[in-house]
Amino acid sequence: MTIAPIVRDIPELAETFAEHVEIAYGEARRSGRPFAIAVPGGSAAEGLLPRLVKLPLDWRHVLVFFVDERAVPPDHAESNARLVRETWLDRVPIPMANVHRMPGDLPDLEAAAAAYEGTMAEAIGAPPRLDLVLLGMGPDGHVASLFPGKPSLDEPQRCVLAVEDAPKPPARRLTLSLLAIGRARLVVLAAFGAAKAPVLREVLENDDSPLPAARALRSGPRPIVLLDPEAASR
Ligand code: 6PG
Repeated sequence: MTIAPIVRDIPELAETFAEHVEIAYGEARRSGRPFAIAVPGGSAAEGLLPRLVKLPLDWRHVLVFFVDERAVPPDHAESNARLVRETWLDRVPIPMANVHRMPGDLPDLEAAAAAYEGTMAEAIGAPPRLDLVLLGMGPDGHVASLFPGKPSLDEPQRCVLAVEDAPKPPARRLTLSLLAIGRARLVVLAAFGAAKAPVLREVLENDDSPLPAARALRSGPRPIVLLDPEAASR
């Protein structure tokens, strides 16, 4: 599958992303379910999530999950939960109970992953089917905390995994699996900056690429790819 990315400046990509969120929210509500979205940290969150503040959604029907989290307390500078609160959630009237942060601060990450699997099952059923998953991508082609060449990429059963050896610091993390990402109704991959350009070429053009980003894009229904001009330069 050759994927044609949408290439625009980041503020315009934020508009496009917000439109897709609004459409996916509408579809979920018409089907009588809450709208369940999972979000990352990093530049995708910083660039796209602030625009969601202006969306006219009934926030009581929005459930927020995370695609990954670092093993730090939720108020730590490295915490994805902190970033997502500051860029988006603190500025909308969403009930606290609708925000399901990954418990990366628990000392036993395997237990934390199992607990989050339970949290997702309770909120949206098991196996979970998210309405929308937003992914950033690293220059090595990682998405969430699924890194190239790691056995976690072939997890056959679990939706949430502990990571003890991530090459991007901090090494200890929690992540959704490719299984959970592939079950989503819509996957949106966002990548900004020239450092991502070489790997994007492989991800978008090589149907057999083993890179996590490529596998995530192949894992479900037709995805959406949002790139700024620098990321698209190759
Ligand atoms: C994290 C993120 C991670 C991120 C990529 C890309 O916790 O680090 O969730 O998966 O999306 O590493 O990050 P940048 O967009 O900041 O390069």
